[in-house]
Amino acid sequence: MHKPSPKNNEKFLSQEDFIVSKTDAQGKIIYGNKIFIKISGYEESELLHQPHSILRHPDMPKAVFKLLWERLKSGKEIFAYVKNICKDGSFYWVNANVTITHDSNGNVIDYHSVRRKPSKKSMDVIPKLYEKLLGEEKRSGPDASMRMLENILNEKGVGYDDFIFDLQH
Ligand SMILES: Cc1cc2nc3c(=O)[nH]c(=O)nc-3n(C[C@H](O)[C@H](O)[C@H](O)COP(=O)(O)O)c2cc1C
Repeated sequence: MHKPSPKNNEKFLSQEDFIVSKTDAQGKIIYGNKIFIKISGYEESELLHQPHSILRHPDMPKAVFKLLWERLKSGKEIFAYVKNICKDGSFYWVNANVTITHDSNGNVIDYHSVRRKPSKKSMDVIPKLYEKLLGEEKRSGPDASMRMLENILNEKGVGYDDFIFDLQH
């Protein structure tokens, strides 16, 4: 899998952009809309059937993806801020809503992610928060970083979903 070196060049979504992708039950990309492909810098053929982690930026704490997959495995959707890396090492931030399609027996058919431009308010908070979580992950491991996130939310007296919702609205 292509592993670009991160560079300090941010790409921005416009207010009207919706970045859409679908993955199979294993998290491999099976569809991406035009803007998803364009902003990534890859050809469609380079993205299809690749794990979604092809866009994983090293600044992202593991705790966020752990939460994402825990939610999805328990049948629930999630909203999350994600920093993604492009083929050329540039990055872009999104507010992603990841949802599940089930068949009539409750089995997972696929997952969809719809991403929008993150709010100004969220971008004053989330990059600093993720930096803290990543620092803790590097010092004491991913579980400690997850506990740090839980403690920060407890101190604020909000659950994860309300925290994310308030930042976006
Ligand atoms: C529908 C869907 C969309 C996803 N979108 C992204 C994404 O845009 N960027 C990303 O880094 N991970 C995304 N993920 C999470 C990845 O599957 C993966 O958990 C994450 O990149 C961390 O990779 P790792 O577990 O190999 O460290 C998505 C997962 C699903 C199910």
